[in-house]
Amino acid sequence: MEPRRGGRAARLTLGLALLCSALEAAPAGPQPRSAVGKFWHVSDLHLDPTYHITPDRTKVCSSSKGANASNPGPFGDFLCDSPYQLILSAFAFMKDSKQQVSFMIWTGDSPPHVPVKELSTKLVISIIGNMSSTIRNFFPDLQVFPALGNHDYWPQDQLPVTTSEVYNAVADFWKPWLTDEAISTFRKGGFYTQLFESSDSSQPLRIISLNTNLYYSPNSVTVNITDPANQFAWLEGILEACSQKEEKVYIIGHVPIGYLPYARNTTAIREYYNERLVKIFRKYSSVIAGQFFGHTHRDSIMVLLDEEEKPVNSLFVAPAVTPVKNVWQMESNNPGVRLYQYDLLDYSLLDLWQFYLDLRDANKKNESNWKLEYILTKAYGIEDLKPESLYEMAKQLSMPHSTLFEQYYSNFIVPTLFLHGSGNVLKQESWCGGADVTAARFITSWRPLDVPLKCSCQRHRI
Ligand SMILES: *[C@@H]1O[C@H](CO)[C@@H](O)[C@H](O)[C@H]1NC(C)=O
Ligand SMILES: *[C@@H]1O[C@H](CO)[C@@H](O)[C@H](O)[C@H]1NC(C)=O
Ligand SMILES: *[C@@H]1O[C@H](CO)[C@@H](O)[C@H](O)[C@H]1NC(C)=O
Ligand SMILES: *[C@@H]1O[C@H](CO)[C@@H](O)[C@H](O)[C@H]1NC(C)=O
Ligand SMILES: *[C@@H]1O[C@H](CO)[C@@H](O)[C@H](O)[C@H]1NC(C)=O
Ligand SMILES: [Zn+2]
Ligand SMILES: [Zn+2]
Repeated sequence: MEPRRGGRAARLTLGLALLCSALEAAPAGPQPRSAVGKFWHVSDLHLDPTYHITPDRTKVCSSSKGANASNPGPFGDFLCDSPYQLILSAFAFMKDSKQQVSFMIWTGDSPPHVPVKELSTKLVISIIGNMSSTIRNFFPDLQVFPALGNHDYWPQDQLPVTTSEVYNAVADFWKPWLTDEAISTFRKGGFYTQLFESSDSSQPLRIISLNTNLYYSPNSVTVNITDPANQFAWLEGILEACSQKEEKVYIIGHVPIGYLPYARNTTAIREYYNERLVKIFRKYSSVIAGQFFGHTHRDSIMVLLDEEEKPVNSLFVAPAVTPVKNVWQMESNNPGVRLYQYDLLDYSLLDLWQFYLDLRDANKKNESNWKLEYILTKAYGIEDLKPESLYEMAKQLSMPHSTLFEQYYSNFIVPTLFLHGSGNVLKQESWCGGADVTAARFITSWRPLDVPLKCSCQRHRI
């Protein structure tokens, strides 16, 4: 249920000069700055192998499900999942940007949005294999940390709690990136953990790749199971060990915790599982330096608060590479990839750079020109991406007539900002039909769409 997302607004006025100077990120000025590491995040590639240009627009791609493609070109169409060429252009851009990244995270969903009967276990496996080799062809020496998505299974969403043909096949594709131990837990439940050691850092980073698809509401395999595939127990064990060893952790996964952007009152995963994860993440928030998800195809930020409403974790949902959206949505939904910057000493998050492709323009020119959409700290005037900073930002944005909000708002074509918070902390909450946030206390701010959502809680429009 994810193809409804906010497009990268095309009119952000951050110039390329800014891009280049900040991309260098060299320690400038007299005072020593902490060394910066970087990594890429890609999500929701959704390859549609049937995509092709043909006069009958209902036949351009299976993922349009019989609808006429809107304006199909070599890089895709807003009613279709990704043609291979779009995916190639995304990775070519990342490679050509020559960013000195330490690793890449890839949060799942390779197959297209098509009716279940148009896919099969074999096809799903072959598409995940294709995407894995494609990434490796572009970045043969780069460490990649993947996670499974709800579409990375057949039938979709029904990821099982024990070993399966798909888990086994995918484990074989991902062997070049993962340790034997990681591969072994992956075969059993579709999740793993692995240490990332870097010569630039004094301590290693632990990646925990969760199979949150086990908690996804449409997964009927896990109905009534308290701890599917014993992933909660495993996760708590790993985090407990981390807190004793004082390791830092990045959590990656496909389906995010928290509330869905387009359904104010609904968690993406079943509520019971959501509360359980929130409890675990709160308990171990001091070792978790960041959380990264995909699935909603929406660029969004969440802050996890503890029981005292203190911000303790920063969570990020990356936009998709696929441009696909529903027929009734009038806006564009441009493809995106992003780059994070982190502090090499403690893995705390310093910044994020969101890139996008203007699909119409790329199709028109037969040339993909990926561009910077925004730099988070610059767009919001914050210091870094630590929970405290994001929380302050959200509070400021939520004030009536906030100048920060006005500034933010004026940068975008038709901005719609959603903040979604706990109780009285965020006053926008009242515009959102009074949706109540229960045990999971999040602030969520959604990136602007270039046309407002059909939602009761949209704020301004131009
Ligand atoms: C697709 O477009 C053609 C030509 O404009 C039109 O005849 C047809 O009804 C459209 N099909 C759908 C499913 O909208
Ligand atoms: C992946 O699929 C595309 C399009 O279906 C095909 O052109 C390409 O050769 C495949 N690549 C790999 C590495 O399998
Ligand atoms: C789950 O539990 C409920 C309540 O005990 C029961 O009614 C339902 O049939 C169970 N569903 C499955 C799929 O086991
Ligand atoms: C688009 O560019 C590619 C090479 O970059 C070329 O092979 C192809 O023919 C071009 N297509 C059109 C419609 O001009
Ligand atoms: C949100 O969910 C709660 C409990 O699940 C319910 O009581 C409330 O009416 C819902 N609010 C809206 C606006 O749907
Ligand atoms: Zn997806
Ligand atoms: Zn998904």
